[in-house]
Amino acid sequence: MKVSVWRGSIAEVKADAVIVNLFEKVTPPRGATGAIDQALGGAIARLIEAGEITGKAREAAVVYTLGRLPATKVVVAGLGPSAGFDYDGVRAAAGWAMRAAAKGRARTVATIVHGAGIAGLEPGTAAAAAVEGSLLAAYSFKELKVAEGDGGGVEELIVVEREEGKLAAIEDGVRRGEALARATALARDLVNRPANLVTPTALAEVAADIARRGGLSLEVLERADCERLGMGAFLSVAKGSDEPAKLIVLRYRPKDGRAGAQGPLAFVGKGLTFDSGGISLKAGEGMEGMKSDMAGGAAVLGAMEAVGTLKPPVEVIGVVPATENMPSGHASRPGDVVRAMNGKTIEIISTDAEGRMILADAIAYAKNLGAARLVDLATLTGACVVALGNVRAGLFSNDEGLAAAVEKAAAQAGEKVWRMPVDSEYGEQIKSEVADIKNTGGRPGGAITGALFIREFVGDTPWVHLDIAGMAMNSRDLPYTPKGATGFGVRTLAHLAESMK
Ligand code: BES
Ligand code: MN
Ligand code: ZN
Repeated sequence: MKVSVWRGSIAEVKADAVIVNLFEKVTPPRGATGAIDQALGGAIARLIEAGEITGKAREAAVVYTLGRLPATKVVVAGLGPSAGFDYDGVRAAAGWAMRAAAKGRARTVATIVHGAGIAGLEPGTAAAAAVEGSLLAAYSFKELKVAEGDGGGVEELIVVEREEGKLAAIEDGVRRGEALARATALARDLVNRPANLVTPTALAEVAADIARRGGLSLEVLERADCERLGMGAFLSVAKGSDEPAKLIVLRYRPKDGRAGAQGPLAFVGKGLTFDSGGISLKAGEGMEGMKSDMAGGAAVLGAMEAVGTLKPPVEVIGVVPATENMPSGHASRPGDVVRAMNGKTIEIISTDAEGRMILADAIAYAKNLGAARLVDLATLTGACVVALGNVRAGLFSNDEGLAAAVEKAAAQAGEKVWRMPVDSEYGEQIKSEVADIKNTGGRPGGAITGALFIREFVGDTPWVHLDIAGMAMNSRDLPYTPKGATGFGVRTLAHLAESMK
């Protein structure tokens, strides 16, 4: 979708649909909505009086202009109550309005920036949120539906602003919102695509595209490289599969060459392109969903795409250990003991606890590259889904400062997280009889013991672990997140990188 900014009145734009808005309990309509209402001879005011347009959140009322405006239709987006209206409210309103426009087969859509008028939100941030909401809501994954063919959908979004003074901020916000939405769509595509197409090799090819577009450096470690480095944990998972594993490393350096006062920030994402469970085989029902077990890796690739566009003031390293987890004559067995890159030995109790195995070596590698702060994302445990459902990701950390920074970035992104405990008492559950540590800790606190296992490979480096098992896929349409892959984490990581010095 093409996105542009146009200075003028929303009542004068040529488009198939123009989007204005309304807070709950506001009559008569004011601002841009008032201008449209006037041009329509008071039609919107009358619909409000009749109770057909209420301004409630999720409402997207379509009004035909019947030649009174250059645009064919007006969509009035409900903003909900004005108290508490925020940037995520902007995303949601833009998302529902965009869907209504798309449903009415609009090709060109114009919108005002929700919140930048009477609500008093910062115009640039509101513009970014409006563009994010619009593009993310319009996302669909159709590439494998041959019968439906291409085409359809909104082709152009025009962001309209009357006030000259707000224009520069809005232009900048629109570019930022576009970058964040496109990076999120990239991650969604990777997660929606099945595992026969998104192999570790395919992920490495996508990483190469990201590197080229953003001017990042790329390193892909092959099995032999990983053997040389002693990555016995990563390789213990990879060896059951015929698909060659890849450890993908993208690196962004700011133009001025500085790493940032606190040193490089590293993102590490679980890139399990398919998790069958291995010899500890999963049940068949729903196993197709395990194509999404690379959602953490996809989020890191999406974030690096955004970083390549937004060019934050800090060095960012993105690491994605990519492999399948398959049962075969070459696969690891329960009871096997392997040695990770940092020298620690691990007893494999369940080959289905494979995410923490590959993260262990990826984190050790990121530290060797000089990572001074680590954020890992992983669809790590079903236990986290039991604890937090599909509303919040679990956040685990050893560092108050970094935890607060990630919480802030997540709030800015409209991605919900919840801090979880990491008391060392839980560590008793992953003590092994025969090795330094074992890879499962039983059912109680399963998300926490998963996090504590990873912490063993983090050391003293400030670290945040996001368990996104409940967040990677969405079973119903949300305001700007259609059913399917969500791209969760991309925008949080991008905001985090931008917040760092
Ligand atoms: N990829 C799964 C976790 C998962 C479950 C993600 C449901 C998304 C939805 C992970 O590799 C796994 O199998 N975890 C095990 C860990 C256990 C063996 C300690 C689990 O959660 O059962
Ligand atoms: Mn598993
Ligand atoms: Zn897994």
